[in-house]
Amino acid sequence: MLTDWQTEVDAAAVADAACRLIGIAARDAIAERGRFRLVLAGGSTPMATYRRLAASDQNWKRWSLYYGDERCVPADDPQRNSWAVIATGLPEKAGKHFPIPAELGAKAAATEYRARIKPAMPFDMVLLGMGEDGHTASLFPGQDWPDKTVFAVKNAPKPPAERVTLGINALQNCRSMLILVTGEHKTHAVQQWRAGVELPVARVGDIGQARVVIERKCLELATDQASNSAVAID
Ligand code: 6PG
Repeated sequence: MLTDWQTEVDAAAVADAACRLIGIAARDAIAERGRFRLVLAGGSTPMATYRRLAASDQNWKRWSLYYGDERCVPADDPQRNSWAVIATGLPEKAGKHFPIPAELGAKAAATEYRARIKPAMPFDMVLLGMGEDGHTASLFPGQDWPDKTVFAVKNAPKPPAERVTLGINALQNCRSMLILVTGEHKTHAVQQWRAGVELPVARVGDIGQARVVIERKCLELATDQASNSAVAID
Protein backbone atom coordinates (compact mmCIF):
# COMPACT_ATOMS: atom_id res chain seq x y z
CA MET A 1 0.00 0.00 0.00
CA LEU A 2 1.51 3.32 -1.08
CA THR A 3 -0.75 5.46 1.10
CA ASP A 4 0.58 7.19 4.24
CA TRP A 5 -1.59 6.98 7.38
CA GLN A 6 -1.71 9.78 9.96
CA THR A 7 -3.79 9.33 13.14
CA GLU A 8 -5.31 12.18 15.13
CA VAL A 9 -6.91 11.98 18.56
CA ASP A 10 -10.46 12.92 17.46
CA ALA A 11 -12.53 14.42 14.61
CA ALA A 12 -11.64 17.99 15.61
CA ALA A 13 -7.93 17.12 15.50
CA VAL A 14 -8.45 15.53 12.06
CA ALA A 15 -9.96 18.84 10.87
CA ASP A 16 -7.11 20.83 12.46
CA ALA A 17 -4.49 18.60 10.79
CA ALA A 18 -6.26 18.74 7.42
CA CYS A 19 -6.48 22.54 7.60
CA ARG A 20 -2.75 22.73 8.37
CA LEU A 21 -1.80 20.31 5.55
CA ILE A 22 -3.98 22.14 3.02
CA GLY A 23 -2.46 25.48 4.06
CA ILE A 24 1.05 24.11 3.52
CA ALA A 25 0.10 22.68 0.11
CA ALA A 26 -1.44 26.02 -0.86
CA ARG A 27 1.62 28.01 0.23
CA ASP A 28 3.95 25.70 -1.74
CA ALA A 29 1.73 25.60 -4.86
CA ILE A 30 1.35 29.39 -4.96
CA ALA A 31 5.11 29.88 -4.42
CA GLU A 32 5.98 27.43 -7.22
CA ARG A 33 3.10 27.93 -9.70
CA GLY A 34 1.26 31.07 -8.65
CA ARG A 35 -2.01 29.27 -7.90
CA PHE A 36 -3.60 26.53 -5.75
CA ARG A 37 -6.10 24.19 -7.40
CA LEU A 38 -8.00 22.21 -4.75
CA VAL A 39 -10.62 19.52 -5.34
CA LEU A 40 -13.14 19.42 -2.48
CA ALA A 41 -14.74 16.32 -1.00
CA GLY A 42 -18.45 16.13 -0.32
CA GLY A 43 -20.26 14.53 2.61
CA SER A 44 -20.13 15.76 6.21
CA THR A 45 -16.59 14.88 7.32
CA PRO A 46 -14.67 17.69 5.58
CA MET A 47 -17.05 20.53 6.56
CA ALA A 48 -15.19 21.19 9.84
CA THR A 49 -11.99 21.49 7.81
CA TYR A 50 -13.63 23.95 5.38
CA ARG A 51 -14.86 26.11 8.28
CA ARG A 52 -11.32 26.21 9.73
CA LEU A 53 -9.87 27.08 6.33
CA ALA A 54 -12.42 29.88 5.81
CA ALA A 55 -11.32 31.39 9.15
CA SER A 56 -7.61 31.13 8.26
CA ASP A 57 -5.27 33.59 6.59
CA GLN A 58 -4.51 32.50 3.02
CA ASN A 59 -3.49 34.03 -0.30
CA TRP A 60 -7.11 33.53 -1.30
CA LYS A 61 -7.10 35.17 -4.69
CA ARG A 62 -4.79 32.37 -5.86
CA TRP A 63 -7.18 29.60 -4.77
CA SER A 64 -9.45 27.75 -7.24
CA LEU A 65 -11.97 25.27 -5.82
CA TYR A 66 -13.33 22.24 -7.70
CA TYR A 67 -15.42 19.23 -6.62
CA GLY A 68 -14.75 15.50 -6.69
CA ASP A 69 -18.44 14.72 -7.05
CA GLU A 70 -21.93 16.20 -6.78
CA ARG A 71 -25.43 15.01 -6.18
CA CYS A 72 -28.02 15.70 -8.93
CA VAL A 73 -30.38 17.88 -6.91
CA PRO A 74 -31.14 21.62 -7.27
CA ALA A 75 -28.31 24.01 -6.45
CA ASP A 76 -30.14 25.30 -3.36
CA ASP A 77 -30.87 21.82 -2.00
CA PRO A 78 -29.04 21.15 1.31
CA GLN A 79 -28.14 17.70 -0.08
CA ARG A 80 -25.88 19.42 -2.65
CA ASN A 81 -22.20 19.21 -1.75
CA SER A 82 -21.72 22.75 -3.11
CA TRP A 83 -24.58 24.01 -0.91
CA ALA A 84 -22.93 22.53 2.21
CA VAL A 85 -19.51 23.88 1.20
CA ILE A 86 -20.90 27.41 0.55
CA ALA A 87 -22.45 27.29 4.06
CA THR A 88 -18.92 26.93 5.53
CA GLY A 89 -17.88 30.29 4.04
CA LEU A 90 -14.93 28.81 2.10
CA PRO A 91 -15.97 29.58 -1.52
CA GLU A 92 -16.61 33.27 -0.85
CA LYS A 93 -12.97 33.57 0.29
CA ALA A 94 -11.47 31.72 -2.70
CA GLY A 95 -10.51 33.48 -5.92
CA LYS A 96 -12.48 30.99 -8.04
CA HIS A 97 -15.18 28.43 -7.24
CA PHE A 98 -16.29 25.83 -9.80
CA PRO A 99 -19.29 23.78 -8.63
CA ILE A 100 -20.38 20.83 -10.76
CA PRO A 101 -23.59 22.03 -12.56
CA ALA A 102 -25.47 18.89 -11.44
CA GLU A 103 -28.82 20.68 -11.82
CA LEU A 104 -28.35 20.12 -15.57
CA GLY A 105 -28.68 16.37 -15.04
CA ALA A 106 -25.81 13.90 -14.66
CA LYS A 107 -24.80 13.47 -18.32
CA ALA A 108 -24.91 17.16 -19.30
CA ALA A 109 -23.13 18.15 -16.08
CA ALA A 110 -20.42 15.54 -16.66
CA THR A 111 -19.81 16.83 -20.19
CA GLU A 112 -19.61 20.42 -19.03
CA TYR A 113 -17.36 19.68 -16.02
CA ARG A 114 -15.01 17.53 -18.10
CA ALA A 115 -14.20 20.60 -20.18
CA ARG A 116 -13.88 22.71 -17.03
CA ILE A 117 -11.34 20.55 -15.20
CA LYS A 118 -9.14 19.31 -18.06
CA PRO A 119 -7.08 22.55 -18.12
CA ALA A 120 -6.90 22.49 -14.29
CA MET A 121 -5.05 19.18 -14.03
CA PRO A 122 -2.84 18.09 -12.44
CA PHE A 123 -4.64 19.40 -9.36
CA ASP A 124 -2.45 20.63 -6.52
CA MET A 125 -4.51 18.72 -3.95
CA VAL A 126 -7.51 16.39 -3.99
CA LEU A 127 -9.57 15.94 -0.82
CA LEU A 128 -11.67 12.82 -0.37
CA GLY A 129 -13.88 11.20 2.24
CA MET A 130 -14.89 7.56 2.59
CA GLY A 131 -18.30 5.99 3.06
CA GLU A 132 -19.04 2.99 5.31
CA ASP A 133 -18.91 0.74 2.24
CA GLY A 134 -15.52 2.10 1.18
CA HIS A 135 -16.86 4.38 -1.56
CA THR A 136 -15.16 7.67 -2.28
CA ALA A 137 -16.43 10.60 -4.33
CA SER A 138 -19.28 8.79 -6.13
CA LEU A 139 -17.27 5.68 -6.95
CA PHE A 140 -19.17 2.83 -5.29
CA PRO A 141 -18.22 -0.82 -4.79
CA GLY A 142 -19.56 -3.23 -7.39
CA GLN A 143 -20.25 -0.49 -9.94
CA ASP A 144 -18.55 0.33 -13.24
CA TRP A 145 -15.91 3.00 -13.05
CA PRO A 146 -15.48 4.06 -16.69
CA ASP A 147 -12.06 5.33 -17.65
CA LYS A 148 -13.43 8.87 -18.03
CA THR A 149 -12.37 12.18 -16.49
CA VAL A 150 -15.92 12.89 -15.30
CA PHE A 151 -18.97 10.66 -15.65
CA ALA A 152 -22.63 10.26 -14.68
CA VAL A 153 -23.67 7.85 -11.92
CA LYS A 154 -27.31 6.73 -12.15
CA ASN A 155 -27.69 4.12 -9.42
CA ALA A 156 -25.66 5.25 -6.43
CA PRO A 157 -26.59 3.21 -3.32
CA LYS A 158 -26.13 6.36 -1.20
CA PRO A 159 -29.03 8.73 -2.03
CA PRO A 160 -29.47 10.54 -4.27
CA ALA A 161 -29.00 7.84 -6.86
CA GLU A 162 -28.06 10.27 -9.63
CA ARG A 163 -24.66 11.90 -9.28
CA VAL A 164 -21.67 13.22 -11.18
CA THR A 165 -18.18 12.08 -10.23
CA LEU A 166 -14.59 12.51 -11.27
CA GLY A 167 -13.09 9.23 -12.42
CA ILE A 168 -10.15 7.46 -10.82
CA ASN A 169 -7.54 8.91 -13.16
CA ALA A 170 -8.81 12.46 -12.67
CA LEU A 171 -8.84 12.09 -8.87
CA GLN A 172 -5.32 10.65 -8.96
CA ASN A 173 -4.08 13.41 -11.30
CA CYS A 174 -2.81 15.49 -8.40
CA ARG A 175 0.36 16.49 -6.55
CA SER A 176 -1.14 15.48 -3.21
CA MET A 177 -4.25 13.75 -1.90
CA LEU A 178 -5.83 13.82 1.56
CA ILE A 179 -8.43 11.23 2.56
CA LEU A 180 -10.26 12.20 5.76
CA VAL A 181 -11.83 9.42 7.84
CA THR A 182 -13.71 9.91 11.11
CA GLY A 183 -16.35 7.88 12.93
CA GLU A 184 -16.34 4.37 14.40
CA HIS A 185 -19.01 3.41 11.86
CA LYS A 186 -16.25 3.32 9.22
CA THR A 187 -14.10 0.79 11.10
CA HIS A 188 -15.04 -2.20 8.93
CA ALA A 189 -14.24 -0.39 5.67
CA VAL A 190 -10.89 0.73 7.12
CA GLN A 191 -10.12 -2.84 8.19
CA GLN A 192 -10.98 -4.14 4.68
CA TRP A 193 -8.92 -1.37 3.07
CA ARG A 194 -5.85 -2.22 5.15
CA ALA A 195 -6.38 -5.94 4.45
CA GLY A 196 -6.04 -5.22 0.73
CA VAL A 197 -9.68 -5.35 -0.36
CA GLU A 198 -10.01 -3.39 -3.64
CA LEU A 199 -12.48 -0.83 -2.29
CA PRO A 200 -12.96 2.36 -4.36
CA VAL A 201 -11.13 4.41 -1.71
CA ALA A 202 -8.27 1.89 -1.70
CA ARG A 203 -8.00 1.95 -5.48
CA VAL A 204 -8.08 5.76 -5.69
CA GLY A 205 -5.78 6.26 -2.70
CA ASP A 206 -3.13 3.77 -3.82
CA ILE A 207 -0.72 6.48 -4.97
CA GLY A 208 2.46 7.68 -3.30
CA GLN A 209 1.13 11.22 -2.86
CA ALA A 210 -1.95 10.10 -0.87
CA ARG A 211 -2.28 10.50 2.88
CA VAL A 212 -5.11 9.27 5.09
CA VAL A 213 -5.84 11.46 8.11
CA ILE A 214 -7.89 9.26 10.42
CA GLU A 215 -9.41 9.41 13.89
CA ARG A 216 -7.28 7.20 16.17
CA LYS A 217 -10.24 5.24 17.61
CA CYS A 218 -11.39 4.21 14.14
CA LEU A 219 -7.95 2.89 13.21
CA GLU A 220 -7.50 1.12 16.56
CA LEU A 221 -10.87 -0.66 16.19
CA ALA A 222 -9.99 -1.63 12.60
CA THR A 223 -6.66 -3.03 13.78
CA ASP A 224 -8.38 -4.96 16.60
CA GLN A 225 -10.93 -6.31 14.11
CA ALA A 226 -8.11 -7.48 11.84
CA SER A 227 -6.25 -9.28 14.65
CA ASN A 228 -9.48 -10.85 15.97
CA SER A 229 -10.36 -12.18 12.51
CA ALA A 230 -6.78 -13.48 12.12
CA VAL A 231 -7.08 -15.34 15.45
CA ALA A 232 -10.48 -16.72 14.37
CA ILE A 233 -8.85 -18.17 11.21
CA ASP A 234 -5.92 -19.83 13.10
C1 6PG B 1 -20.90 12.34 -1.30
C2 6PG B 1 -19.44 12.32 -0.96
C3 6PG B 1 -19.06 10.97 -0.46
C4 6PG B 1 -18.60 11.17 0.97
C5 6PG B 1 -18.68 9.87 1.73
C6 6PG B 1 -18.42 10.12 3.22
O1 6PG B 1 -21.29 13.11 -2.17
O2 6PG B 1 -21.65 11.62 -0.66
O3 6PG B 1 -18.64 12.79 -1.91
O4 6PG B 1 -18.06 10.33 -1.19
O5 6PG B 1 -17.28 11.67 0.98
O6 6PG B 1 -19.96 9.31 1.57
O7 6PG B 1 -19.46 10.92 3.71
P1 6PG B 1 -19.41 11.46 5.21
O8 6PG B 1 -18.21 12.37 5.28
O9 6PG B 1 -20.70 12.22 5.40
O10 6PG B 1 -19.27 10.26 6.11
